Amino acid sequence: MANPTTFLNFIDGTWTASRSGRRFENRNPADATDLIGAFQHSSRDDVVAAVDAASRAYRQWRLVPAPRRGEILFRAARLFVERKEALARDMTREMGKVLDEARGDVQEAIDMSFFIAGEGRRLYGQTVPSELRDKFAMSIRQPLGVCAVITPWNFPVAIPSWKIIPALLCGNTVVFKPATLTPLSAVNFVKVLEEAGVPPGVVNLVTGTGDEVGQGLLEHEAIRVVSFTGSTAIGRRVSLAAAPSFKKVHLEMGGKNVVMVMADADLELAVDGCLWGGFGTTGQRCTAASRVVVHEAVYQPFVEAFVARARALRVGDGMDPSAQVGPLVSAGQLDTVTDYVSVGQREGARLETGGRRLVDGALAKGCFFERTVFTEVDPTMRIAQEEIFGPVVSVIRCGSLNEAIAIGNGVSYGLSASIYTRDVNQAFTAMRDLDTGIFYVNAPTIGAEVHLPFGGTKATGNGHREAGTAALDVFSEWKSIYIDFSGRLQRAQIDQADV
Ligand code: UN1
Repeated sequence: MANPTTFLNFIDGTWTASRSGRRFENRNPADATDLIGAFQHSSRDDVVAAVDAASRAYRQWRLVPAPRRGEILFRAARLFVERKEALARDMTREMGKVLDEARGDVQEAIDMSFFIAGEGRRLYGQTVPSELRDKFAMSIRQPLGVCAVITPWNFPVAIPSWKIIPALLCGNTVVFKPATLTPLSAVNFVKVLEEAGVPPGVVNLVTGTGDEVGQGLLEHEAIRVVSFTGSTAIGRRVSLAAAPSFKKVHLEMGGKNVVMVMADADLELAVDGCLWGGFGTTGQRCTAASRVVVHEAVYQPFVEAFVARARALRVGDGMDPSAQVGPLVSAGQLDTVTDYVSVGQREGARLETGGRRLVDGALAKGCFFERTVFTEVDPTMRIAQEEIFGPVVSVIRCGSLNEAIAIGNGVSYGLSASIYTRDVNQAFTAMRDLDTGIFYVNAPTIGAEVHLPFGGTKATGNGHREAGTAALDVFSEWKSIYIDFSGRLQRAQIDQADV
């Protein structure tokens, strides 16, 4: 076989091979015979070179006026628009989601870039009255320095944009370590920034494993911020590794999101929402609707319609326009999902449909799995508690709104939740009482928009949010400034009747 195309790291404005001399392969999850390319299996030396470049570039980049930084990001947004189709096709090829969804992923990067570019002319601080006469008081946003951006494979262009674009706008520089399963989308992303005019060293790309590249970044003293999206187990490791050098850590981790279908719900709408929320992106979203809690008054008709519609979804190569559900991202993910199906069966849940790998015809070449629905699930079962990250939905019966809310909250995660009801009182009660960072009424748990804060509570996050202007809070810190123009010593915080 001919040598595969080799893709490089991007360090200090130059596309460069790893000092390790090692590479890793990237293959299409819909067809294991399709070799996409060889990527740099980077070492700690590459991490050090990238962080050094980012540290040097920071000295200048932080001084570039924010509106100018915004203009460069605006150009990036335009380039994302021009390349949307090519980026989407590369994404489908390397991680499997159907092309329409891959286009949506790139669209999030477009939206985020336009939105954040505009913040270059805002980046608001605060101006407040001083306690003293002839004195001004204000606070301004300052960049923090070099940021490590560690991203997952399920939104390989969108999630890097949520982190890198605001990090740059605020005046930081970045070392970007993408998931090993989606390095091509990362290369495409960085090329856009390079061509948009981001100066050398301001964004650096280092591909490779979490153990080497990720850990190297976390232990490097010069990294001041870590923004990570991935599993809760790895997020905990990130937090621990970043603690000794007091890095600011933003974590966006797992989910076990609930859709609550109440007795008065529009059932057809609820079924549509649960299909899209449960099987969109093959269930590989942290926002996936992996639990559906259904009121007993409508349980039977809901289950019948939902199972029939799940069976009817067409699984296939994401490049095929008739496919509605693509493959799982990797053989490893296939094993995880297969294991969870056995767990559910052992726990006594009823497997209504699915549960097996698909191997008919061309599907045998890829990591395809049936749409899978468990019913009669007890909320304490592992399949109702743990994030599976695959096309597996657990349906749970409930007798009241209060019970649905208790089940909804009865997991360690807190990302997204939803309710289907026509009763405004039920909707508002659930909205208030679900302990999640995102809530939907009469819509599934997926589909967050880039100009609102994104993130969750409990084991999903650590108190930060990304997207929206909340992203600016991750990538900047406050400096409070007092300007005394009285020409004499004014003493604050002493008793004085200066009125
Ligand atoms: C994720 O699954 O990690 O809200 C992100 C959504 C998408 C983003 C999902 N806009 O479903």
